[in-house]
Parts: sequence; structure tokens; C-alpha cells
Amino acid sequence: MDRRNALKIMLTACSTAAMATVPVPVLSSCTQKKEGTVEKIKRLIFFFSATGNSLYVSKQIGGEDATILSIAQEIHNENPVYEAEEIGFVFPTYCFTAPAIVQDFIARSSFKADYFFGVATFGAHTTRLPEIFQAFTKEHGIDINYISSVQMVDTYLPFFDQEVEQAADKHTEEMIAKVKAEINARENYIQPVTEEDNRFYDMYFHGRPRDKVKPALTRSEKIVYSTEDCIGCGICASVCPHGSWKIVDKKSVANGECENCLACVQNCPRKAISIIPAPMEPKEEANRNARYRNPNIKLAEIIKANQQI
Ligand SMILES: Cc1cc2nc3c(=O)[nH]c(=O)nc-3n(C[C@H](O)[C@H](O)[C@H](O)COP(=O)(O)O)c2cc1C
Ligand code: SF4
Ligand code: SF4
Repeated sequence: MDRRNALKIMLTACSTAAMATVPVPVLSSCTQKKEGTVEKIKRLIFFFSATGNSLYVSKQIGGEDATILSIAQEIHNENPVYEAEEIGFVFPTYCFTAPAIVQDFIARSSFKADYFFGVATFGAHTTRLPEIFQAFTKEHGIDINYISSVQMVDTYLPFFDQEVEQAADKHTEEMIAKVKAEINARENYIQPVTEEDNRFYDMYFHGRPRDKVKPALTRSEKIVYSTEDCIGCGICASVCPHGSWKIVDKKSVANGECENCLACVQNCPRKAISIIPAPMEPKEEANRNARYRNPNIKLAEIIKANQQI
């Protein structure tokens, strides 16, 4: 049984029991500890992850007690009303903001909590992300208490060699421990945006077309595969949060919405998918033969989180 169906069953069961104890029962707000007693979910974490970094951070921050839900699955929830003591969003930084799927999920859902937090995983620079995400969540009725970031392997293949990235010590574990302790203490903190951040942000977008809020999107047709190397295993289709790959005559074909998350490229066991660079990007990837998935996260977990078909 997948996580979403398991959750649905748990919520249906607990909403019946909740009638007696909670004045206004809200689906997604309670968890049944033992027969007859209902407790509010303590920490509810929504994550999006293409290569496992943000899922790993969610699991580390969540510990034993948290309920951790995939945004790529929850985006289909027809009754997206969530309540918990603490609600958090953990996601990769895309072009100094939250991925489009994260923004769409937040915009279409309602949340109720005493404490809200956001954690962006990133590879090189978050620049203005904290202020952009704070303004975005406010616009959607969330008064966010805490926004911070954790530096990890940078998965943006056009610029970053995944071998070099994996060899670099980015103090990731220390950052995760710090963020977890601060969230556990319910600190009120929004990571400051420095002058240098502003300069880097302005320099990056100088002359580049961009959507003011959402990261640059591409169509999946722009991501091509090498027909000789593709073995038709279907992993690209299973990890794509938009279900945009099909296997036709034992070869993969991309056609559909694209988050530019690179889950298909990174998780292909044959390195058979390559990227056509966006305007103003290097013509060649930094290292065509190096691919990455967070070493603590299994392929099956990425599939479970993102699979649409
Ligand atoms: C399309 C795309 C855009 C990215 N943009 C940024 C960025 O602006 N700044 C940054 O530091 N890292 C950037 N990254 C790197 C990711 O944010 C980082 O590697 C993240 O930890 C990946 O998380 P995941 O494994 O959960 O998908 C980008 C990655 C991708 C695929
Ligand atoms: S994951 Fe790679 S090898 Fe497998 S079907 Fe997709 S492109 Fe082909
Ligand atoms: S086609 Fe590839 S890059 Fe685009 S959304 Fe799907 S998995 Fe991500």
C-alpha cells in the first residue's frame, strides 16, 4: 500500500474517532495513538525532492514523531486542508526560489498550525530565497516563523560536476543538526539576505529572462536521451513528478510538463539522458558521466515520493 493510501485510511479512521474529542474535526489533523484516544499531529513536513537531499533533511528534522508527506503526491489531494502543531516545507532551491510544484501546492492548500517553518536545501547560493519565500507564504495566509537553509551537493548538472560536489565538505550534517535544534526550540528566525546575496542575485538575472516568482521552467522535450544507451527500464518515468516520460518501443520518450528537477537525468542507471542547455548556459554539462542521488536515500524512496503513473 502506498503512503498516500495508508494516510487516507488512517485519516478516515481518526476523523470518526475525533468527533467525540475534537470540536471541529479537520481531515489531516489527527493521529490515532491507541484505541479511543486521538492526538493532533505534532510535526507535519511536506517535501519535494528529485535526488533525495530534501527528503533526507525532512527525515532528519522529522525524527520519529513527524508525519512526512510528498508534495508530488499531496498536490492531487482533493481536500487539501492540513492541521498540525507544527507544519514545515522542505524543498530544493531552484533559481533562488522554491520549485514551481511547491509553490502550486502551497497556493492550492490551507494550513493551520501554531508554528510554521521552511527549509531550503541548496548547493551554492540561496540569495533572496528567504525573503521571496516569506512573502509568498504570507500571500497564501501563512505567517511563517522560521526559514533557513542547508548546503548540500548542487544537483544543477549544467554548472556542477557531481564528482567534485560529492567530494566537497559543505558541513551539511552540522547545518541539519543546527536547523533541527532551532526548529525544536520553535525559534523565530528568517535567514537574512545580505548585500552580497542581492548583488549575486542581480548579477545572475542580468540579461536573463525570468518569471518574477517561479523558477525558470523548461519543457521536457528539451531533455533528450541517447537512444543507444536507453534500455527502456522506465526509471525516468517512475521518478518524474509530472509523469512526463513514456516507454515507446522499449525506449523512453519525454513529452509533457517539466519541473526541470533533473530527477530523470540523475536517476537514469545508464546515464542515457542528457540536457539541452537553457539560453546563456554552458553548451556542455560540467561532467556528462557523473550523476548523483543522496547516499542515504534509496531509489525506491524517490519513486514512492514522485511516481505519477
Ligand atoms: C533546476 C535547478 C535549479 C537549482 N538552482 C539552485 C540555486 O539557485 N541555488 C543553489 O544553491 N542550488 C540550486 N540548485 C541545487 C539544488 O537546490 C540542491 O542540489 C538541492 O539540494 C537538491 O535537492 P533534492 O536532492 O532534494 O532534489 C538547483 C538545482 C536544480 C535541479
Ligand atoms: S531511466 Fe534511462 S535507461 Fe531507463 S528508460 Fe529512462 S532513459 Fe532509458
Ligand atoms: S521530465 Fe525530468 S526534469 Fe522534467 S519534471 Fe520530469 S523528472 Fe523532472
